[in-house]
Amino acid sequence: MPYTNEPFLRSAAAEAAQQLFAAAEAEAGLRLQSLSTYRSYNTQVRVYNDIVANRGQDYANRRSAQPGHSEHQTGLSIDIGSIPASCAFDPCFGDTAHGRWLADNAWRFGFHLRYPEGGTPVTGYDYEPWHFRYVGLELAAELHETGIPTLEEFFGLPPAPDYGN
Ligand code: DAL
Ligand code: ZN
Repeated sequence: MPYTNEPFLRSAAAEAAQQLFAAAEAEAGLRLQSLSTYRSYNTQVRVYNDIVANRGQDYANRRSAQPGHSEHQTGLSIDIGSIPASCAFDPCFGDTAHGRWLADNAWRFGFHLRYPEGGTPVTGYDYEPWHFRYVGLELAAELHETGIPTLEEFFGLPPAPDYGN
């Protein structure tokens, strides 16, 4: 698949992502690219610290998981952008044709939009219309059919911790 950073995902998620990207192009003429997939602990340290340095810790905690807490470290999550690039890592991605198609169709390939708009009190993170978590076909379909927006609510888990910052 096209990418900015070389993509690495667990094999089931990788195959599903390839199918997702192919369907976007075949069904809607929309080209997608992978922006970020597996991140090591040390990469997450760099990502988190860069945001802290540029925007401060409160903002960083809403935009980035602290090292050791990111789904990206599991190899199951992917940040997706458009080709040509538009609204990359920006909430406006959700209003693009690419972002809307993904929000409507990612579940068919086992992906879940993990940080939905309005979900911050539950997930702890701002709206990330580019971040999709591979949860498998069965769970993705159930989340879609029930309309339950977050994994925390689906599994009856407490809201995300605020790390005490
Ligand atoms: N941006 C998401 C929350 C992460 O860092 O895993
Ligand atoms: Zn992400």
